[in-house]
Amino acid sequence: MSLFENYILSQKENFESKWFEILRIPSISTLEKFKPEILKAADWFRNRFLEIGLHSELIETIGYPLVYAETPAVADAPVVLVYGHYDVQPPDPMELWQSPPFEPTIRNGNVYARGATDDKGQFLTHVFAVESLIKSGEKLPFQIKFIVEGEEEYGGKGIDHFLHSDEGQKKLACDCVLVSDTSMFGFGQPTITYGLRGITAFELFLTGPNRDLHSGTFGGSVFNPAIALTKILSQFIDEKGVVQVPGFYDDVIPLTDRERTQFANLDFDDNAFFEKIGLSQGFGETGFSTNERRWARPTFDINGLTSGYQGEGSKTIIPSKASAKFTCRLVPNQNPHTIADSVRKFIASQIPPGITWKLEVQHGAPGMRLDLDTSKFTVPMSNALEKTFNCSPVFTREGGSIPVVAEFQRVLKAEVLLVGWGQDDDALHSPNEKFSLTSFHSGILASARFFAELAQQQ
Ligand code: BES
Ligand code: ZN
Repeated sequence: MSLFENYILSQKENFESKWFEILRIPSISTLEKFKPEILKAADWFRNRFLEIGLHSELIETIGYPLVYAETPAVADAPVVLVYGHYDVQPPDPMELWQSPPFEPTIRNGNVYARGATDDKGQFLTHVFAVESLIKSGEKLPFQIKFIVEGEEEYGGKGIDHFLHSDEGQKKLACDCVLVSDTSMFGFGQPTITYGLRGITAFELFLTGPNRDLHSGTFGGSVFNPAIALTKILSQFIDEKGVVQVPGFYDDVIPLTDRERTQFANLDFDDNAFFEKIGLSQGFGETGFSTNERRWARPTFDINGLTSGYQGEGSKTIIPSKASAKFTCRLVPNQNPHTIADSVRKFIASQIPPGITWKLEVQHGAPGMRLDLDTSKFTVPMSNALEKTFNCSPVFTREGGSIPVVAEFQRVLKAEVLLVGWGQDDDALHSPNEKFSLTSFHSGILASARFFAELAQQQ
């Protein structure tokens, strides 16, 4: 066993306790009042980088700060940029957590906490890998950079803006962006994710009368905003799961036969997949398999609806207002701005009499895809994965979004390598988010072996 592998084994407890430290910081980016915690989390990462001897700095942005770190530059050698995010989603509904979301707790070999996997635990595997290589005296004949953002879960505007500045492009210049913020295709099955969906997020506000009205006195004589909202939203998809917004599919590149065969050959059981989430069956666009629907087809989803009286008993009113948050997941080549324009037109054509409306586009990002045929970094990564998990990786796409990755490809002309250590049932964004301790430690080993493979190639 090499020195760095020994070091990794010897540091298991230490790595876990460091990981728990950052999980205790509730760095929720979507809620303004958690800003101090966001800043605390950024500082925590900076201090970790400094402790392992890297140059590190906080970079102010138009949003929350980025944490940057780097090993010394090496001429004529590749640069790997490791990307992650230190922010997390809100924990609610709180009452469904079996242990407090910001008090990491071990049960059945898993660590339960908000951010356990998404993305603090996953990102840290690379920090610990680099620490292990440095502390055990390994030579790094190429440069490793780290960039950690604090608002990925809220659209990533700070990093996007930085990436479009000269300073950003200089600082983040690299050949490969390594990201662990996705899942494995089953426990112990290493996975390289070569595509992600993009997203456009909206909030629609409808207003009717200037106050809640008595539904007896006024019912039948005015358009009810809650009815207007449900009518409009119900037009978005038909009974075949096809999005009805004109032009929605115009830029979608159809799945190739090769890709469809590759997806179909994955070991995947529809029934088991739906059973795990308490459903007797799934639903989606006719003519596509479950994995095609969730990885490679665009969608419309309502994320939240608000209107009228929600308290106990009944209240006979016509609400004054109704609103909804909704998102479209996009596939590569669909433009989030074009989609936002089409959605706006689609809504405008359906506003009933007496109702005023406002549509806010909250954030948007395109989907991404890595060309596996020309990729230079999947081979060393596959070797590292094979050594660690004793089986070769599968290649999948995934349906989630990491807003900045498509821009990394476009602006930095870098290869984006998505290698996750999570599981589909890790409950990201849900109560009782978890990350397996085994996956965490394997992730550290695999990451260090990837860097060691690259070192050997130099
Ligand atoms: N880690 C996820 C992305 C992800 C989820 C990739 C599932 C693959 C499978 C990431 O942190 C995330 O949740 N991103 C948000 C971004 C959005 C708010 C702009 C998402 O996908 O909802
Ligand atoms: Zn994430």
